[in-house]
Amino acid sequence: MEGKKHVTFGGRLVFVGFGSVGQGSLPLLLRHIDIPVERISIVTGDERGRAEAAHYGIKFEVRPLTPGNYRAILDPLIGKGDFLLNLSVDVSSVALIELCCEKGAMYLDTCIEPWLGGYTDQSVTPSHRSNYGLREAVRAIREKHPSGPTVIPTHGANPGLISHWVKQALVNIARDLDGEVKTPETRDAWAQLAMKLGVRTIHCAERDTQVADPRKRRFEFVNTWSVDGFIGEGSQPCELGWGSHEKHFPADGRNHEFGCRAAIYLTRPGASVKVRSWTPSEGQYHGLLITHAEAISISDYFTVREDGRVAYRPTCHYAYHPCDDTVLSVHELAGKGWIGQEQRRVLMDEIYDGSDELGALLMGHARGAYWFGSRISVHEARKLAPFNNATSIQVAAGVLGGVVWAMENPRAGILDPDDIDFERVLEIANPYLGHVVGEYSDWSPLIGRNHPFPEDVDTSDPWQFKNFRVA
Ligand SMILES: NC(=O)c1ccc[n+]([C@@H]2O[C@H](COP(=O)([O-])OP(=O)(O)OC[C@H]3O[C@@H](n4cnc5c(N)ncnc54)[C@H](O)[C@@H]3O)[C@@H](O)[C@H]2O)c1
Repeated sequence: MEGKKHVTFGGRLVFVGFGSVGQGSLPLLLRHIDIPVERISIVTGDERGRAEAAHYGIKFEVRPLTPGNYRAILDPLIGKGDFLLNLSVDVSSVALIELCCEKGAMYLDTCIEPWLGGYTDQSVTPSHRSNYGLREAVRAIREKHPSGPTVIPTHGANPGLISHWVKQALVNIARDLDGEVKTPETRDAWAQLAMKLGVRTIHCAERDTQVADPRKRRFEFVNTWSVDGFIGEGSQPCELGWGSHEKHFPADGRNHEFGCRAAIYLTRPGASVKVRSWTPSEGQYHGLLITHAEAISISDYFTVREDGRVAYRPTCHYAYHPCDDTVLSVHELAGKGWIGQEQRRVLMDEIYDGSDELGALLMGHARGAYWFGSRISVHEARKLAPFNNATSIQVAAGVLGGVVWAMENPRAGILDPDDIDFERVLEIANPYLGHVVGEYSDWSPLIGRNHPFPEDVDTSDPWQFKNFRVA
């Protein structure tokens, strides 16, 4: 696929981490950003990706970053007007963002990561090591650097594109209900539109059906993106944006004592919490309610306040059905008391079929449920760009959209994906997203709740009830 150059970049571009997302993103960035390869370098934690970097003639160094060495390693590599693209696991986003703000370099990542072990560090409260806590730590840097270089944490597919699909879905629903609609231009106008439409719940609804040969072996964790990343976030406390319409507070739910207060957490790992959701090809399914940044930022962004009181806020959370062999891997992980398997494999070339269907499912409005997002098969992904599967290309498309937008708007400060121009980002990302579709459904998570259930389940607590219900 030939690429239009969206932007010419005069600075240096440094990748930190070069796993499935880094390797998948590089071909797209080279195709659409005018930058000589000599000005790109990679600093990473292991040998994965060395051949892919060599393929493009890009400098590749294995130098794992730690709290003690990251400044010394990155100091010579970034300065004013450069770009740090953090696609690693186990490297603190907060530390790298602070460094970039001090030096005047732009920054983007696809997940707010803590240093190694930070997700499960028992010396830190679950609230402070949650995604909510990590986002608040980034927001605190914003106070210190109000008009600094553009920094966009959490801009892959989800988090990332999902925020833009929510906006596109709102515009589409409004248009289908009322005819022509003016696209909102402020955060307040977006929140008012969501409230007017009556959107109560937003799922980040994903079904991955990719299959690989060899399949998952005993004592092995396989996934279509980072295994380390997934075990880390799946073991974190479950988190969700908490809507103003919610009547039942979960038995093990907790509020945060600081910050925007748009979200709550449950005192159990997200990968142990099942929720029912829906995507167009799959129909209804059981998803895992794994903590993700978008669950917090979307609920926060669409909050309407009247006289200082929250008048409207949607509930928002992830509902992830990973590929079948990852479901088995999670089952084994939970059975072993959340001690990660030593054998780990990111599935890439061995995938022989399947798709990733990922989108925003908006419920509660007059048309019932509306899903808007991307469906792409592994075969389509491979035709579009090398070193990708169906999952990584969706993430790479989000990275490309976010990096180009940042380069076009280099002094916008620290932002959530929800704060940036959704139409521009989608215009850049769409060619890599396969079938971008919107579909209505009369499905609701309430359908089928009258199934038989064990007598000791408290049916007044829908969270407990959902977890016990067998599909
Ligand atoms: N937003 C999204 O849509 C989305 C989707 C998938 C993954 N992600 C996130 O993207 C990130 C990368 O995912 P991936 O699938 O490429 O992971 P991966 O496991 O395939 O690769 C991780 C990379 O980080 C490097 N690394 C590990 N420790 C390091 C250290 N101390 N210093 C420097 N580099 C180090 C590894 O060497 C490797 O290159 C993760 O944070 C993941 O959660 C986001």
